[in-house]
Amino acid sequence: MVDPRKDKSYDKTEWMTPLNVFRKIEKFMSEYFYVMDFKFTLDPCTTHNNLKVPKYFTKKEDGLKQSWKDEIVFVNPPYGPGIDDWIMKSYEESKYNNAIVVMLLSNFTDTKIFHQIILKYAEVVFIEGRISFVGSKGSPREGSILAIFDNQSHRKYLRLTVRGLS
Ligand SMILES: C[S@@+](CC[C@H](N)C(=O)[O-])C[C@H]1O[C@@H](n2cnc3c(N)ncnc32)[C@H](O)[C@@H]1O
Repeated sequence: MVDPRKDKSYDKTEWMTPLNVFRKIEKFMSEYFYVMDFKFTLDPCTTHNNLKVPKYFTKKEDGLKQSWKDEIVFVNPPYGPGIDDWIMKSYEESKYNNAIVVMLLSNFTDTKIFHQIILKYAEVVFIEGRISFVGSKGSPREGSILAIFDNQSHRKYLRLTVRGLS
């Protein structure tokens, strides 16, 4: 089988998160933080016609160059060679800028960035079932995870949350 990460016909750059999945993630985060109504405040990588939160950046503003300070951030990043930059930015904004960042990522667990950054600094949630992203031509070839970067969580140990998102 072709490795989906290297298959150029498999371009996930513009695939959008379905609204019902986005709402499920907010509901999941409400339970995670024991709050009534968790709401994301920023999507740093999106388009004008795909708005789920009050504040957003598109390619034009370049979300990687903007501050995410104090925001509650949802990141389904453009997939491709630059994806590590989005993971590093998420980590740094949570560590130094008081952001809570929830990333929706493919479940590739063999990469360097997964081991060196995500496993060390994020909480990982394995999502049960395949997400049918808006704009995709079929089901994705791999599943998804959430990587939750929250510097306030005072985690001492890695916690892998193995549960479905329902
Ligand atoms: C996988 S899609 C996800 C869209 C949206 N966040 C969602 O979850 O539905 C990635 C988005 O990032 C946008 N994008 C690519 N490079 C960007 C950049 N440097 N700054 C902001 N947005 C960017 C793309 O145009 C695309 O809309």
